[in-house]
Amino acid sequence: KQNIRRLVLGNWKMHGALATNGQLLSAIRSAWNQSSGAAACDVGVCVPFPYLAQAESALTDSDIAWGAQDISVHAQGAYTGEVSGAMLAEFGCRYVLAGHSERRSLHGETSQLVADKARAALAAGLTPVVCVGETLAEREAGRTLAVIDEQLKPVLALGREAVAAMVIAYEPVWAIGTGKTASPEQAQEVHAAIRAALQGVDCAGVRVLYGGSVKAANAAELFAMPDIDGGLIGGASLVAEDFLRIAEAG
Ligand code: G3P
Repeated sequence: KQNIRRLVLGNWKMHGALATNGQLLSAIRSAWNQSSGAAACDVGVCVPFPYLAQAESALTDSDIAWGAQDISVHAQGAYTGEVSGAMLAEFGCRYVLAGHSERRSLHGETSQLVADKARAALAAGLTPVVCVGETLAEREAGRTLAVIDEQLKPVLALGREAVAAMVIAYEPVWAIGTGKTASPEQAQEVHAAIRAALQGVDCAGVRVLYGGSVKAANAAELFAMPDIDGGLIGGASLVAEDFLRIAEAG
């Protein structure tokens, strides 16, 4: 396995409330700061926009980073409802997701738009976490690697310097929120293909996370695969103990 530093990132999606966030953030902060895990693995949480200030105040000077789940391609202007990279940076974000499958399917985000979002994130000094993944129908049609290729293409076209500063997350759509995880071998096959594509722009060291029903019980076997460098965690990131156990596996 290459010597790539692991990353375990929570994606809260549209969950949370001030009171419960406060408990969750302080629980993960204190447990992670006491654990030795931070030496081996980076950890972060991607929270809804209104809670960025709360995450910043709860996590400043800890070993846990925070970030957002979406970003505008525009720097500023008449874009009602959009949030710019500079705004995210003002709240101390390190990461921002780009092209989560829920954005692609529910909001019509194209692979080109996702690449533009990744570029906007980099311009603001943020680390974009570009999400790719096939649907069940695409997998069953034998199109998995072709779909991933198509999704990565405009991202890789941003060039070596840009890609080197990103994180890629493989999230098979059929495994998201379904309790159905890709087997370590299924995930590894796609991760290896992503690694090869990254190698094509001389970026083999970029972290490739797996997402899709990662739980405390299956994290270690997934993270043990040669091309899986950590995880993007949905449901389990909302429970401090579960998220911490996954981070410990990182
Ligand atoms: O971004 C994380 C994700 O989509 C996976 O969600 O709930 O299956 O872990 P979940």
